[in-house]
Amino acid sequence: MTDVQKRISELTDRIHYLNHRYYQDSVSEVSDPEFDALLRELQDLEKQNPNFALPDSPTQRVGGAITKEFRQIRHQYPMLSLGNTYSREELQEFDERVRKGLNGEPFEYVCELKIDGVAISLIYENGVLTQAITRGDGVQGDEVTANARTIRSLPLKLQSTNFPERFEVRGEIFMPFKVFDAINVEREDIGEAPLANPRNAASGTMKMQDSSVVAQRKLACYLYYLLGENLPSESHSQSIECLERWGFPVSPTWQKCADIDAVLAYIHSWEEKRFHLPMGIDGIVIKVNSLRQQEDLGFTAKIPRWAISYKYKAESATTVLESISYQVGRTGAVTPVANLKPVQLAGTKVKRASLHNADEIARLDVRIGDWVFVEKGGEIIPKITGVDLPKRGMFSEPTAFLSHCPACETALVRTEGEAAWYCPNEMECPPQRKGRMEHFIQRKALNIDGLGAETIDLLFEKKLISDSADLYSLTYEQLIGLDRFADKSARNLLAGIEKSKSVPFPKVLFGIGIRFVGATVAEKLAEHFGSLENISKATHEELIQAPEIGEKIALSVLAFFQDPASIQFVEKLQLAGVQLAMPEGKEAESDALAGLSFVISGVFSTFSREELQDKIKANGGKLISSVSAKVNYLVAGENMGPAKLEKATKLGVKILTETEFVEMLLQ
Ligand code: IVH
Repeated sequence: MTDVQKRISELTDRIHYLNHRYYQDSVSEVSDPEFDALLRELQDLEKQNPNFALPDSPTQRVGGAITKEFRQIRHQYPMLSLGNTYSREELQEFDERVRKGLNGEPFEYVCELKIDGVAISLIYENGVLTQAITRGDGVQGDEVTANARTIRSLPLKLQSTNFPERFEVRGEIFMPFKVFDAINVEREDIGEAPLANPRNAASGTMKMQDSSVVAQRKLACYLYYLLGENLPSESHSQSIECLERWGFPVSPTWQKCADIDAVLAYIHSWEEKRFHLPMGIDGIVIKVNSLRQQEDLGFTAKIPRWAISYKYKAESATTVLESISYQVGRTGAVTPVANLKPVQLAGTKVKRASLHNADEIARLDVRIGDWVFVEKGGEIIPKITGVDLPKRGMFSEPTAFLSHCPACETALVRTEGEAAWYCPNEMECPPQRKGRMEHFIQRKALNIDGLGAETIDLLFEKKLISDSADLYSLTYEQLIGLDRFADKSARNLLAGIEKSKSVPFPKVLFGIGIRFVGATVAEKLAEHFGSLENISKATHEELIQAPEIGEKIALSVLAFFQDPASIQFVEKLQLAGVQLAMPEGKEAESDALAGLSFVISGVFSTFSREELQDKIKANGGKLISSVSAKVNYLVAGENMGPAKLEKATKLGVKILTETEFVEMLLQ
C-alpha cells in the first residue's frame, strides 16, 4: 500500500467515524473547519488519484447514516450540502467561477444567514403538509412528519391561494436559545446531563419517537428553498417572497447583493450582530439569485456551483485561569466552573467558563495559572477550548478534581459510566437540601408565591424548616418574628403555602424531586398509576411498562421509595394535605376491556393519542408502553415503527386497527 492509499483509507475511516458521531450520536468531536479540512484533503487526494478512491468514500455521500425506526423515504431531489469558504479570497474565487460559468452575463446574489439547525424537506400537496423528511444521507432520509407537524410556525394547511398543486420546500429546524436554556435548566434540575448545544438539541428532538415530547420542545423553523415543477418564481428572492406570502416562516434577514463587494459588506454587517440573534447561525449562505442561472451553473457531484457558505472564524480570546470553583446542585452533582481573568470576547466581558466535569478537565489538562483559549460558540456560556502550553509555568501542577464536597466535606462518589462526581450526603448537604426546596416551590411544581432562595436560606438558618414538607407547619408567629417579614409578607407567604395544597398531583410529583422525573415524566407516571401510593408500590416491571418510563427512571423511582427518609418526607406531605392522587373524576365507561392490556403506536385519525389512552382506561383496559408477550393487543395507527410491528408479530400479540378497536368497545 502506498502512502497515498494509506492516507486515503485513514481519512475515509476517520470521516466515517466523525460522521457517525455527528449524525447518530449528535456529538461533534472536531470543529467544523477541522472536519472540512479532513474532507477537503480526502477530496483532493481522490481527485489526484481517482483509482485509489474507496467505493464507500464519505465524499460520495453527503454524510449521515439513518436511524432505523423511522420510515425511509427517497428525496425527489437529493439534499446536497454547500461548499464552505473561510476568507475574502475564497469568496472572490467563488465569484470568479460563477462569472466564468455564466460567460460574463450579469447576475446578482442573495445572502442569507446559515441557520445552525437540522435540514428538513417538506412536501405540500394541495396546500397541505403531507410529508417531512430529514436529510439523512442526502439521498434518503427519515420520515418525521408527525414530529414536524408539532412545529408551531409551520403551516399545516396553507391559507393563501396560487400555490402549485405539489411542491417541496426546504429549510432549517432549530431550537431558539431561550428554549434551549429552559430545557437545560430543567435537565440540570432533575439530574440529567445538559444538552450540548441547540443544534444537537434540535436534531435529537426530531429523532424522538414520541411527537408529544417533540411538541413540548418548542422547535422553530425557517424555510429557504422552494423546489418543484412549474414554480411561479424566476429567482430565489421571488421564491422566498412566495413562501412568505403562502404563510411560511422566512427569516427576514436575507438581502439581495449586486456583486461580491455587497456580499462582503453583508458578511461584515453580521460579524457582531450575529451574537444578538435568538438562534445560532454558523455562517452566511451566498446564492446566485436567478433560477435560470442557477440551472446553467448546475451542481458538482455533491454541491451546487451557484451557492456557497461563508463561515465566520470562531471568536476566541486567551486569558488566565485564576481558579476553579465547584458548585453542588440539588441532585448532589458537583460542577466545576473556571474563574478567568476578565477578558473581552464577542462584545461581552467574560469572567467564567464552563468546565463541565472531571473528564473535561483531564482532557484539556487545564491547570490553575494556565493561559487558556476561550471561545464563544452558540452557547451562552463560553467554553475553554485549549491551553496555550508554551506559556505554562514551570511549576504548574495537574488539576486534581475535588475529593470532598465543598459544602459538607463528604467524600465524593462517581457511578460507573457517569461523568459527574456526586456528594452522597443527600439528607444533610445544605446546597442539596436548599436546592430541593427551590425545586419544590418553583412555578412548574408547587408554585409557592412569596418564597425565594433567600427566604429559604433564612428559614433553614433559623431551623424553622428542614425540608419542603415543613413549610406546611410554619405559623404566623414564627414568621413575624423574623427580620424579613412584616404582617403582609407573612400572610402572603402563608396564603401561598395554603394555595399550593390544591396544586394537582402531577405537579406535586414533579416537586417531590425524584431524580430523572421531570415535569413530563411526572405527568405520565401520575396518569398511569393514579396516586403516589400506587407509584410507591409499583414493581420494576410495572414501572417499565408505563408509557415513557425507561430503565433509568424506573430504577430511580424504586430507589427513592426504598429510602426511609423519602418515605418520611412523603408522609409529612400527606399529613399537610397536598394532592397525592389524581382527582376521582374520569367516569368509567364500561368494562369492555377489563383484564386486557394494550400498547398503542403510531398516529390515529379519530382519536388523539391521549384520547385513545383515556378510552382504554375508561373501559377497564390497561396501558402498557412496550410490546411483550404479556400484552394482549397492539393498536396500530399510521406510521408506527416497523420494529414494534415486527416484535408484536413475533410474539403473537394481536394487532388492531383503530376501527377494530372501536368495534371492541361496542361489543
Ligand atoms: S441552501 C443546495 N440556505 O446548511 C443548497 N442552506 O451546508 C441547499 N442551511 O443542508 C442549502 N441555512 O441544512 C441553505 N439559508 C440557508 C441555510 C442552509 C442553513 C444548512 C442546510 C444545508 C446546509 C448546507
